Amino acid sequence: MINFLKIILLTLLLLTINSQQPLLADTADGAKIFEATCAGCHIKGGNIIRRGKNLKMRALKKYKMDSVEAISNIVTYGKNNMSAYKERLSESEIQLVSTYVLNQAKNNWRKK
Ligand code: HEC
Repeated sequence: MINFLKIILLTLLLLTINSQQPLLADTADGAKIFEATCAGCHIKGGNIIRRGKNLKMRALKKYKMDSVEAISNIVTYGKNNMSAYKERLSESEIQLVSTYVLNQAKNNWRKK
C-alpha cells in the first residue's frame, strides 16, 4: 500500500515537472536568459571583450555563427574568452537563447 502511494506521488511529481517544459518555449524566456547570462558581455548584441565578435548579423555571417546550431554550439562548449554554459544552462535553455540571439540579429537588435 505504501509503495503504491509512493508510485502515485512520484508520477504526480514527474507530471508537474514535465508540464513546466512547454511554458519555457517562449521567446520572452530567450530574452530573459540572454539578459541574465549573456548581456554582461554582449549588451545590445555587442561584445565588450572582442568587439569584432559581436552578435550582429554581419559578424555572425563572417564567423559562420549565423545558425541556431552554431550559436548553441559556442554557448554549450565556449570558445577562448567565452566560457562554456553546458553546466549552467539546460539544453532547452541553450536552444531558446540561441534562437533569441539569431532573431535579434535578423532584427538588427531593435527592441521588440
Ligand atoms: C564573459 C563574457 C561573455 C559572456 C558572458 C558570453 N560571451 Fe559570447 N563571446 C564572448 C567572447 C570573448 C567571444 C569571442 C570568442 C572568440 O574568440 O571567437 C564571444 C562570442 C560569441 C558568439 C560568436 C560571435 C561572433 O561574431 O563570432 C556568440 C554567438 C556568442 N558569444 C553568444 C553568447 C551567448 C548566447 C551568451 C550567453 C549564453 C554569451 N555569448 C555569453 C564573451 C562572452
